[in-house]
Amino acid sequence: LAALPLAGKHVLVTAGPTHEPIDPVRFIANRSSGKQGYAIAAAAFAAGARVTLVSGPVSLLPPPGVTLVAVETAREMLEAVRHALPADIAVFAAAVADWRVADAGAQKIKKDEGGTPHFMLVENPDILATIARDEAQRPTLVVGFAAETEQVVEHARAKLARKGCDLIVANDVSPQPGGASVMGGDRNRVHLISMNGVETWPDMDKQAVAAALVARLGQLERAKLHI
Ligand code: PMT
Repeated sequence: LAALPLAGKHVLVTAGPTHEPIDPVRFIANRSSGKQGYAIAAAAFAAGARVTLVSGPVSLLPPPGVTLVAVETAREMLEAVRHALPADIAVFAAAVADWRVADAGAQKIKKDEGGTPHFMLVENPDILATIARDEAQRPTLVVGFAAETEQVVEHARAKLARKGCDLIVANDVSPQPGGASVMGGDRNRVHLISMNGVETWPDMDKQAVAAALVARLGQLERAKLHI
């Protein structure tokens, strides 16, 4: 019996949005459903890996066999990712909020307290860039996603270089005519971008994207280990 392609490997996946509190009842978020990240976690488990899935708030059940670590904010996600390391492969599919409210209120902001509130935003830590540039803890393969609404490949190429990952999976998250969008929807059309070039995959459901990506990661991991 042939060994499964990721047998003996630890794969870390981030998925879903983050929620950044404004006050105890309100938050900033985005439309990520977690479907793409959860599908990758399931595919990695099916390929024989031990899988840790660090997920923001979503309404999906964790795939069987996968260890789920549920978080809310970007800072919690970074902590959970660090805690889950070491890993052989890390795939950052989460739509992490780039900013959070600087001084989230401890009490609900009242409408009758002096007009419309104004919020100061501060930048969240970049989880992918932090882990990709961490010499002590960097997984063998670090895979980022890029969610773009224009110049998808160009912007994703810039992210590959800026964030220091091995591979970027770029997807167009513009709203589509008819309402279906990659963010929140069931299908995806991705470009795989590495230092070696760009490969464009056809439109597929997110499970098929995940299976194809995991198969590629198995090949890349073996190639890297044999260099
Ligand atoms: O969840 P679904 O509804 O299935 O939708 C899937 C998806 C569109 C969310 C997914 O395919 C995707 O593109 N995920 C990345 C979304 C994103 O935030 O992309 P970005 O281009 O803003 O970020 C680039 C990369 O840096 C991503 O790997 C992201 O996880 C990472 N990042 C970003 C900001 C931050 N503070 N920390 C990060 O780690």
